[in-house]
Amino acid sequence: MSIRQQINQQKTANKASRKYFRDFEEHRRQQTDLILSAIPEGGRICILGAGNSYDTDLKRIAAHFSEIHLVDIDREAIGSAKARMSGDVANKIFLHAPVDISGANKSLENWRDFKVTPEILLEFPELAANQLVNKLPGPFDCVVSSCLISQILLTYTGVMGEQHPLLQAGLITLLVTHLRSLVALTKSNGRALWITDVSSNHIAPLNRSTPPQSGIDLLHTLSSNNQIFTYLDPVLIRDLGQQDPYISNRGFIEDSLHAWLWHNGPQDTFLVYALSIATK
Ligand SMILES: C[S@@+](CC[C@H](N)C(=O)[O-])C[C@H]1O[C@@H](n2cnc3c(N)ncnc32)[C@H](O)[C@@H]1O
Repeated sequence: MSIRQQINQQKTANKASRKYFRDFEEHRRQQTDLILSAIPEGGRICILGAGNSYDTDLKRIAAHFSEIHLVDIDREAIGSAKARMSGDVANKIFLHAPVDISGANKSLENWRDFKVTPEILLEFPELAANQLVNKLPGPFDCVVSSCLISQILLTYTGVMGEQHPLLQAGLITLLVTHLRSLVALTKSNGRALWITDVSSNHIAPLNRSTPPQSGIDLLHTLSSNNQIFTYLDPVLIRDLGQQDPYISNRGFIEDSLHAWLWHNGPQDTFLVYALSIATK
């Protein structure tokens, strides 16, 4: 599939989930509580992959932060999120779109066609993180990756094809790039939150009547049954964060791990987890 088709799929998905605001309620509460507890009142927040902003309660976020920066590839989705808000809240919201947060979309078809060298892949995370920093008015007190990295990897896999020999190298490159971007956009003594879906009802027995065991227990169960997205396993993300010198010099992934269910309409249930990165 072409990159243009992949981007259109992201926009179509945003439109399709617009009727499910209520279904997001518990997910929105969990994510918003976590954001509000991450950082003291008064700072500036940047939400990456904000989309329709059904993941975060913008009214509660606006009561806590002085500015809210929403970033997405889909201008219409974040525009509609701001349009839903009343004057006081809307005045705090700044929109940045279309912005390709992965930095890779313009290169993916070249990677697929082997017009890429090992050097290009090795240099990519630093270049892409710097380019993103230059596009946005950071650094921010809090940066949130809001169920975005799974979509970046999905776009990548859709363009490359699942059997591509470079698939794994590119996946790791994109993960390191996203971690570095979060850290690079965050002020020192700030917090970046890596929040992502890690499993879904398409690969695991998840639905509205999933027993109310703790999200963390569920994550461990699904992980030991190989029912999570391998490249989003929090164990891998922690390892990458520790091994990458750029990330470990500027921050560290905290021990805490949160996980919960996200109902995106009647058909789709995801398991979501959050890691918190404290910047030095
Ligand atoms: C699954 S949605 C997340 C839900 C969204 N946070 C909400 O509250 O409704 C993923 C979002 O990431 C955006 N996205 C996907 N790839 C992107 C990229 N490379 N750069 C910027 N945004 C991207 C999509 O447009 C979509 O809004």
